[in-house]
Formats: sequence, C-alpha cells, structure tokens
Amino acid sequence: MISKYLRTRKKDDQVVVFHELHPDPIYCSLEKWKQFVLGQKVDDVFVDGLKSRRLLIDRDVDDQAEFDAVSARLQRKHCQVGTLYLMTAQGCNFNCGYCFVPELARKFGESMLTEENTIAGINLWYEHLKVAHDPNVEYFVIFYGGEPLLNKAVIEKSLPYLKKMKSISGLPGRLNLMIVTNGLLVDDSIISMCREHGIMVVVSLDGTRPVHDSLRVDTLGNGTYDAVITAIKKLVASGIRTFGSVTITPQNINRLGEVSDHLAELGVEKIGYNFIKGRKLIELVGKDGVDQYCEQAAKAVLEYSRSHKFGSEYQLEKKIRAFNEQDFFPHDCTCYGSQLVIQPDGQISNCPFFKAGLGHVNEVGKDFRIWNQPLVREWRKRLPLYNQGFSNNDAKALCGAGCAWSSEELYGDILAVDKISRIFGEEVFNELIWSKH
Ligand SMILES: C[S@@+](CC[C@H](N)C(=O)[O-])C[C@H]1O[C@@H](n2cnc3c(N)ncnc32)[C@H](O)[C@@H]1O
Ligand code: SF4
Ligand code: SF4
Repeated sequence: MISKYLRTRKKDDQVVVFHELHPDPIYCSLEKWKQFVLGQKVDDVFVDGLKSRRLLIDRDVDDQAEFDAVSARLQRKHCQVGTLYLMTAQGCNFNCGYCFVPELARKFGESMLTEENTIAGINLWYEHLKVAHDPNVEYFVIFYGGEPLLNKAVIEKSLPYLKKMKSISGLPGRLNLMIVTNGLLVDDSIISMCREHGIMVVVSLDGTRPVHDSLRVDTLGNGTYDAVITAIKKLVASGIRTFGSVTITPQNINRLGEVSDHLAELGVEKIGYNFIKGRKLIELVGKDGVDQYCEQAAKAVLEYSRSHKFGSEYQLEKKIRAFNEQDFFPHDCTCYGSQLVIQPDGQISNCPFFKAGLGHVNEVGKDFRIWNQPLVREWRKRLPLYNQGFSNNDAKALCGAGCAWSSEELYGDILAVDKISRIFGEEVFNELIWSKH
C-alpha cells in the first residue's frame, strides 16, 4: 500500500516522489508515474526504490512507526544542551533601530552578570552535559548581551574556570568559545584574551557605511561603521576567527551580495543572516509591510546563496546538511531544550530575548534540566512535525519553525507559524528536492 506520507511534485514532464518525513527523492517521467498510479506494471528498480524509502509499505502501522522514529530522534536532539549563553550585560553602548535590547534595558535595568552567577551557570550546564553528552556535537559557550564586552571582567573570570572544568571532566569533547559583539570595545586586551583562549568573534555589520549607519547607531545617534570596520580588521589581522552577523533590513534587503562581498574582503570567515524578529519589525516596515518583508528577505537570502556558491550561509547550510543526511530538520533555533541561557540578572531562560522566568541560577538546584521545563515543552508544539499549521506542508522536513519569540511578539501566539521561516524553508526545499535530478 502507498504510505500516507508519499508526496510528489511535477516539473515539465518529470515527477519527483518523496517521503514527507525524510525526503530522499526518487525521479521518474510523468508517464511512468501515471502508469504506477493506475496500477499498471512499472519497472522493479522504481518499485524497489519506493519500498526502500518506505513510500510503499505493508501495513498502516508502518507509517506510525516511521513517525515515531522521526519524533524520537527529534526528542533526543532536544535533550542535548549544545549551547550555553552567558548574557554578560543587559545594556548596550549602541541603540540600533531594530533592536529590542535598549527597551529591555530600560524596563529591566542595565544589569550585569555577576561572577557568582556566571560560575553557577557554567556548573549548571555541566550538570546537563554529565547526563547527555555527544562527542560528535560541537558545543558552544556564547558571550552575549546587550553588548557583552561591557562586562569584560566577567568574561575574563569565566575563561580559566571553563578551562578547568573541561580539563577535570573532559567535557564537552568539542568546545567552542564565542563572543557576539558590536565591535566598539574591541581593543588590544580583548584581542589578547581571544588569542589566548581561542575565542571566535562574531561582529555585527549590516553593509557599507550608509546602509550600516542608517540603523546601527550609538546612543547619541552617531553612525558606528568606522569603529566596526576597525574592529574587524584588527581581529582578522590578529588571526582570530572572525564572523559576520548581518541583519536584513529594508536598506540592505536587495543588496545582500554587496554586504557579503564587503565582509569577505575584510577577511571574515563566514556570515550569518538575521531576519528581523519581534515587534520592532512592525515599527520598521509597518503592519502591512510585514508579509512583504518576509517574502523579500527569505528570497533574498536564497538568491544571494545561489550566486555566492550555495551553502555559504549558516541557516541554509544546516538545511542542506539535514537534506543530504536524510534527517528531519529539527529546528531553526535551539530554544526547544538545547540551549541554556543565563540572563544578566541570573535568571534562566531558553531564549536570550525572552524573560522566561525559569528560576534563578543560584536557586534552581543541580537537577534542573532546561529540556524538561513545561514552557519549553509547550514551545516544542510549534515544531512542524507536531504543529497543525504545517499539516498541509509537504516541505515540513526542512522547515524549522523559525523564531518562537517573534511569533509570540507579532501574533500573540507561540504556535503561530513564523512566515519568514516557512517561506525560506519551502524555497530551499524546492531547490533541493530537484537538485539530485
Ligand atoms: C542582540 S545583538 C547582541 C550582541 C551585540 N550587541 C551585537 O550587536 O552583535 C546580536 C545580534 O542580534 C541582531 N538583532 C538585533 N535586533 C534584532 C531583531 N529585532 N531581530 C533579529 N536580529 C536582531 C543584531 O544585529 C546582532 O547581530
Ligand atoms: S549593538 Fe547589539 S544589543 Fe546593542 S542595540 Fe545594537 S543589536 Fe542591540
Ligand atoms: S526563539 Fe527566536 S529569539 Fe529566541 S533563541 Fe530562538 S530564534 Fe532566537
């Protein structure tokens, strides 16, 4: 019998047939497909191909078994805390037009993560690693904010502690340290610290001077381009692995190639794009402009990737890997249990921008697990495998649900489909599903 997960797409006189939960494509002519659907004899190689992909099954329960296996793999990934975010500062020395941090700082105060809470956060992360560690996974400790370098002292204190913890326990096997910064405070002491500890640095740059300075301004409203370029040049010249974080704004949305060329010339290793999230998007493009921004931004990243060697953008790379490995793409972000966030005031969250209020890092105890929190379980319901909003979406294996926090902010509903991510996932899927033809 035919699996309920069998899907097809047509292009000219060709058909691609695939399993909705693991799209390993098989191709045939439209004529052959029609013969097969009518129950006429087609060649054994084609039929065997359908069987090996579980597109032809013996019993209904085989479909359920397939769903359960994909779901179980997903759950295992959610119990693997690959990232520890240490949000060292709530405040910032910039006031970027699309950023919610200055607002959060006004509301919650410009708190700084203390040394005590940092150590407690690291210890709690190690409690997670002790019970779930995968030697094949790349683990990350990310210093984040607000502007993390405003609290350099705590970063400096945490580095030897992280080193000690790793040497005592051997965990995690593959540890990466990263700072995400606006670049302004990068000086010689930061450079030496990064070199000594092998820290990678992500610097935010949105484009050439007029594009960057239109939204990335300091607290007095002055452009910040020159300072950021100086920082990137210094980092690259010092041999520090340097990455670019580009936020897609109305100013650069049609010029992503230009931004990436600019960053490549400066010597950054790779770039990642941010789609603007949350209510700031409405402020920037208006309520009626949201859909258009979503369409344009998703297509712009794909267009850029086509012309700059497919695979060079981070989010896209993850989807391509999942497709090639026949994996159900788990999520666009790791807030579903695989990241532990220590907020500047010591509160624990699953997302850097969301005040989840899961307890204070010094009070929750050793048995706290981020993946077990009721709020995190609730958020998982938005994932395409379970979410009714994706029930008719045959590209769901590559759609990763986008940003939960943004859905909550924009639509007041944590389960609402993130439009950018859906469009992006579908476009990438369509490209990939034909790519093996
Ligand atoms: C919140 S900042 C924190 C680190 C540092 N201050 C910086 O700017 O790199 C991290 C990244 O988030 C991006 N960002 C800020 N507001 C955003 C928003 N509303 N949606 C998506 N990304 C945003 C920034 O451009 C930056 O690349
Ligand atoms: S520098 Fe970073 S945290 Fe500060 S306002 Fe800009 S994006 Fe937000
Ligand atoms: S929910 Fe959104 S803001 Fe929060 S970690 Fe995920 S992608 Fe980032």
